[in-house]
Amino acid sequence: MQLFNDFPDGNLVIGEAKKTVPFEIKRVYYINNLFNKKAVRGHHAHKKLDQIIFCINGSFILNLDDGQTKQKVLLNNPYQGVRLGPLLWHTMEKFSSDCVILVLASDYYEERDYLRNYDDFIKYLKQQKCL
Ligand code: TYD
Repeated sequence: MQLFNDFPDGNLVIGEAKKTVPFEIKRVYYINNLFNKKAVRGHHAHKKLDQIIFCINGSFILNLDDGQTKQKVLLNNPYQGVRLGPLLWHTMEKFSSDCVILVLASDYYEERDYLRNYDDFIKYLKQQKCL
């Protein structure tokens, strides 16, 4: 993403498909009203979907798991997204109450692309010879 730093009149951040965003963007969604301190979202992986996830306000923790390695990432910088490629089990938690999450996705919503059960995720990784 490209940042035009117009401070003190506000920052402008721009993403362009296949330029600063590495895929064609077919869907955008955002998550807000994250007032429940105990909320844990996600609990899934995607078979094919590519995404970039931004925390454009506040902060949260993104937990990533590729079936072998687990990683915890604090997202608290509105100018830095994390690429959430396929076959990454992820959960999101510890949302600040002002947290706003913006996601750019490479495809339309398709429930068949989801792996919503961790054991199925591991089985799928083995089928695909990723484990
Ligand atoms: P889900 O992706 O499970 O949310 P999260 O990972 O943030 O916890 O989606 C929650 C519900 O919303 C689920 O029923 C699917 C639906 N949904 C759509 O219909 N379209 C979309 O683009 C997304 C992201 C979710």
